[in-house]
Amino acid sequence: MAGRLSIEGVAKNFVARDGRTVAALDPVHLTIEAGEFVTLVGPSGCGKSTLLNLLSGLAAPSAGRALLGGEEIEGVDRRIGYVTQQDNLFPWRTLRDNVAFPLELAGVSARERAARADDWLARVGLTGFGDAYPHELSGGMRQRGNIIRTLIYEPSIILMDEPFGPLDAQTRLTLQALLLRIWEGSKPTVLFVTHDLTEAIALADRVLLMSGRPGRILRDERVLIPRPRDVFRIHDVGAFRALHDGIWNDLAREVGDGAAH
Ligand SMILES: Nc1ncnc2c1ncn2[C@@H]1O[C@H](COP(=O)(O)OP(=O)(O)O)[C@@H](O)[C@H]1O
Ligand SMILES: [Mg+2]
Repeated sequence: MAGRLSIEGVAKNFVARDGRTVAALDPVHLTIEAGEFVTLVGPSGCGKSTLLNLLSGLAAPSAGRALLGGEEIEGVDRRIGYVTQQDNLFPWRTLRDNVAFPLELAGVSARERAARADDWLARVGLTGFGDAYPHELSGGMRQRGNIIRTLIYEPSIILMDEPFGPLDAQTRLTLQALLLRIWEGSKPTVLFVTHDLTEAIALADRVLLMSGRPGRILRDERVLIPRPRDVFRIHDVGAFRALHDGIWNDLAREVGDGAAH
């Protein structure tokens, strides 16, 4: 299918400064079906961002192939939206013009761009900040802008790297709920990295657990909690606790002393 991601033995090595080769990612085999919402958890430095970089076409694998709809991903592809871990808003553009940037590239008229950007700003609680520049905004506000800049052009694949990391707990839950509503509407294929296991379960059809570096997939758990879900009350759902505790045991072991969130 058009939106299916296939990861066939994808591995990545980096050459360190001293000339030694560092394995960041052991061969990963994985299929994400079109419209599936998959989350990825694992200890810091295990290769999660590396995997997303490879899927986004920003980096090339050392081995294996990543395919979108059966075709190899060989460079940046507009069908794949990537919300990176660090916001990369242009400092010289207003928030509205940052959010509207992908529409500008697509040739959408100035009037429609502004209207659509303002609509998205409203959805994430940023009404009234369209004319502000990134340096005038808090980290959480910039990150909300960073997220909607990708959502606005409705890519069929969305890669998200700890997108809610810098947000406070309340905003985080609100944005989880918003993301689920958007996903239920247009059903993009999503691969979402998080260090928050509760978030990973609340959002996903499947939770993947990666081992410590070099990362490989240790567990691939289906989340059988019915949708639509209430992220604010996910703890109360019967299936949540057993799934959480099961994955947590393995995650804590990979992290070392149980220091994961
Ligand atoms: N460009 C690079 N050059 C050398 N090593 C890198 C590079 N990018 C990542 N690494 C190494 O690869 C490993 C995985 O990094 P990363 O994918 O960022 O981990 P995660 O996102 O899971 O925290 C780390 O050990 C990191 O130091
Ligand atoms: Mg990372």
